[in-house]
Amino acid sequence: MSAATAEKQAALGSRYLPIPIESLDEEVLTLDIYLRQAERGQFALYRGKGIPFSSKDHKRLVERGVRFVYIPAEQHREYRKALVARLDRLYDDPKLKHDERARIIRTASTQLIEEALSDPTAEGAIESVTDLGDQFANWLEKDPQKFSYLLDISEHDFYTATHMLNVGIGCGILMSRLCPEEPELVQLAFEGGLLHDIGKRDVPEAILNKEGQLEESEWKQIQRHPSLGYEILSEHGGLHSVILEMTRDHHEHLDGTGYPSGRKADDLSLAARVCAVVDVFDAISAARPYRGPTPPLDTLKILAQGAGAQFDADALMAWTKYISQSLKDDPSRAPIVSTGQPLVSLDELLVAPPEGFSHDDDYKADDREISDREHARHACDFPVEAAFIVNGLKEEKTFKAQAKNLSLGGVQIQTNQRIRPGEVLFLAMSAREGSVVDRTARVVHVKELAGGDYLGGLKFIALDDELV
Ligand SMILES: [Fe+2]
Ligand SMILES: [Fe+2]
Repeated sequence: MSAATAEKQAALGSRYLPIPIESLDEEVLTLDIYLRQAERGQFALYRGKGIPFSSKDHKRLVERGVRFVYIPAEQHREYRKALVARLDRLYDDPKLKHDERARIIRTASTQLIEEALSDPTAEGAIESVTDLGDQFANWLEKDPQKFSYLLDISEHDFYTATHMLNVGIGCGILMSRLCPEEPELVQLAFEGGLLHDIGKRDVPEAILNKEGQLEESEWKQIQRHPSLGYEILSEHGGLHSVILEMTRDHHEHLDGTGYPSGRKADDLSLAARVCAVVDVFDAISAARPYRGPTPPLDTLKILAQGAGAQFDADALMAWTKYISQSLKDDPSRAPIVSTGQPLVSLDELLVAPPEGFSHDDDYKADDREISDREHARHACDFPVEAAFIVNGLKEEKTFKAQAKNLSLGGVQIQTNQRIRPGEVLFLAMSAREGSVVDRTARVVHVKELAGGDYLGGLKFIALDDELV
């Protein structure tokens, strides 16, 4: 649970709302500020509206370990408005470097989205997010290069609000490249992207971030979120149809195999197509609790497999160009793939398709393979030499296996050697002629086949991290 969520729960039932101390404007307070007394759980007025609040006061509170202050619920609308205005001042602060600016703006923006997610009917909650979208559109128009640093293509998490922020930023950028002459559409793309997953408010993070196969009921719950989001925003009223369509249709595919309605190309707006591309890009590239981030260029390769069928080819091409160029301009924006992250680069294994490699029917039959649930899996058939690792040491005796499926996160092997869940294997994979890729992997599940062979699902791991 994030600190913010814990605070929110602590304040639940009270008429005070927690706000992070960093979001307090210095100079003069525009809101009444309360502190929570931990022992008694009561709220005491710290300073009233109109009273000066200096950077020294700020520092003193931080030194006392105060991370959140409280404002009366009825002042929340004012607070949100002040926050969006404050972001504009911060954005232009010449003292801030790219990464510092991005951190502050992203933290505050995520908070506004989180609030809209937790109660979309709260007065002004949705408007604060659309105001934020308008602010983004202004910034993009002023200086696209500077603005692009707000998009996090490195190691971000996949909590819903972070994802909505990234998708919002990405949708605006992509729309501005596809339709540079239509600033109104760009603005709406920002707004729609920022709100697109609002229907996930009732889906627990545990389901959204679940590793591996989802239960039927869990999958159904996830599939409802576009329609739920559409309902929430329609009931709210006053929002442009472009925003509603992005929310409703961002999981639809051009060939009609998406959800929730199976709408086809002719029924999908450009904004929804844009949202679909940016959505899956962010979902695949983000780090999850159980694995590190997928490098952006690998993510683009995965997306390329859905060009024309799942994704609008022009939108995907424009996005691919944009991300590739951004990384060329500043390679430090790509995540550093370190040991400790169960990652293998697609480049290493799939750049030249290994023998027997195919995007087979199994892959095509299950659209979820390329949705935001897990890594795309590639059917393959190449030899693997394996050895058990016991107490951190590789055994000398090796055995033969065939890789049957490969993804960024793991491999499925077939072998006549008995393997059991929990065992750790060293794998030398001859994915391409003349080159062997070594990986350490843990057996996650095993199926015994009729002929006496074993089919094992293995997850790549970093040896140092997982065995110590
Ligand atoms: Fe979604
Ligand atoms: Fe999404």
